[in-house]
Amino acid sequence: MNAPEATQPLQFPATPNDADSRAQFVQWFRAVAPYIHAFKRKTFVVAFPGEMVQAGKLPQTVQDIALLRALGIRVVVVHGSRPQVEEQLRLRHVESKFANGRRITDDAALECAKEASGEIRLDIEAAFSQGLANTPMANADIKVLSGNFITAKPLGVLGGVDHLHTGVVRKVSTEVIHLALNARAVVLVSPLGFSPTGEAFNLSLEDVATSVAIAVQAEKLIFLTELPGILDPRGELMRELSERSAKSLLQSGNLAPDAAGYLQHCLKACEADVPRAHILPYDIDGGALIEVFTHDGVGTMVSRDDLEFLREATPDDIGAILTLIEPLEADGTLVPRGRGVIERDIGAFSVIEHDRKIFGCAALYPYPEAGMGEMACLTVSPVAQGVGDGERLLKHVEQRAREAGLNKIFVLTTRTAHWFLKRGFVHTSIDRLPAAKQAAIDRTRNSQVYLKQL
Ligand SMILES: CC(C)(COP(=O)(O)OP(=O)(O)OC[C@H]1O[C@@H](n2cnc3c(N)ncnc32)[C@H](O)[C@@H]1OP(=O)(O)O)[C@@H](O)C(=O)NCCC(=O)NCCS
Repeated sequence: MNAPEATQPLQFPATPNDADSRAQFVQWFRAVAPYIHAFKRKTFVVAFPGEMVQAGKLPQTVQDIALLRALGIRVVVVHGSRPQVEEQLRLRHVESKFANGRRITDDAALECAKEASGEIRLDIEAAFSQGLANTPMANADIKVLSGNFITAKPLGVLGGVDHLHTGVVRKVSTEVIHLALNARAVVLVSPLGFSPTGEAFNLSLEDVATSVAIAVQAEKLIFLTELPGILDPRGELMRELSERSAKSLLQSGNLAPDAAGYLQHCLKACEADVPRAHILPYDIDGGALIEVFTHDGVGTMVSRDDLEFLREATPDDIGAILTLIEPLEADGTLVPRGRGVIERDIGAFSVIEHDRKIFGCAALYPYPEAGMGEMACLTVSPVAQGVGDGERLLKHVEQRAREAGLNKIFVLTTRTAHWFLKRGFVHTSIDRLPAAKQAAIDRTRNSQVYLKQL
């Protein structure tokens, strides 16, 4: 097993006196503030496989977790140990046995699992203990607490095969975990559990992490994985999936087994009220930070379907869409379209619904020849503004655009420029738009054009 590398000294910006760099830094730091406020005192479960430790990524991950904790986030870490168990088996000349996609943990394999977990646990504790000056861990002073938090039961006989000491989670000691988190410790959980008869069981990382996230009512379950996230059939990263779309993707059978496995656990967590579960690549340095503190993130986020949900519009929604947009057409915020155009283009619209009532809409008009799409008619009812529906609609339209093979979206706006700027759009000129769009623009409106690379 690789020992954690020493933490690298910080590289401070080369031009700290340069006004642009200073402004950029301050702007970036302020942009992160809303996320910091939102996640303070919330619990995140961060899970990573033994492969990540083997790849030498433990020091960076520990630095990122230390930062989350410093920002007031309560963190439970769950580690895997598969390659380390394999290594122990090899050293002892014991053959690995698998059935039904799970290891058959005989007595020898259980000893290997205990040894592998013990070693990784010590590596993690050592990494959290670093605190050299001029490194991200300076002044961190983190205490790691671990223990017999997981009660397990045998997986039993599947398809006629007894899986021996391979187990599944039966119960999580939630109260003790909360006590440790309240004491500002990072809680570390290994993929081992114990039965009331005193037997140890070898568990899967995914099962332990999901069970812990559900038990402690985590805000986020984050899997750092060997995958880039969940890819659609064209190989494009799916940045956001609702419970519904995750379910239908799993039912389609189009996912590779490892991706399907992670997604199933994310879905299970969301169905049990964990608001968000993430599948991120561990080989992107700072991936967890990018995912948590930026709008677009770096992997796939699965979100719980609330009462509120997003869907494509149907002809039954035309009346509700007109009610939403007519006042904005009348005051000049939106280009007047009228019922005929909405009826014709209803397939381009998405709506956001709460208790079967429509509170927002947006349309995507694709220009495939230019690889671009126009987002138009983005509207949230005044009674529902300010709680993130506009942002959810934007993400949904972005996902629709990606699925349509587009790599940019643009908007024309007269009054909402800053809302788009905050969400990754940049100002551009009309000449950058597809020729067909340029020809159709009413230039007397003097709309500003904003473009976002997807
Ligand atoms: C723009 C709009 C869709 C945002 O919907 P929303 O559900 O309120 O959006 P969110 O909750 O995701 O974001 C709310 C944030 O955007 C800000 N915001 C709202 N309108 C804005 C505007 N015109 N310019 C800049 N920021 C704006 C809010 O102040 C709030 O900021 P805060 O989070 O710092 O408090 C909604 O305000 C709307 O329907 N406006 C009228 C129609 C319109 O202008 N559409 C765009 C056509 S191009």
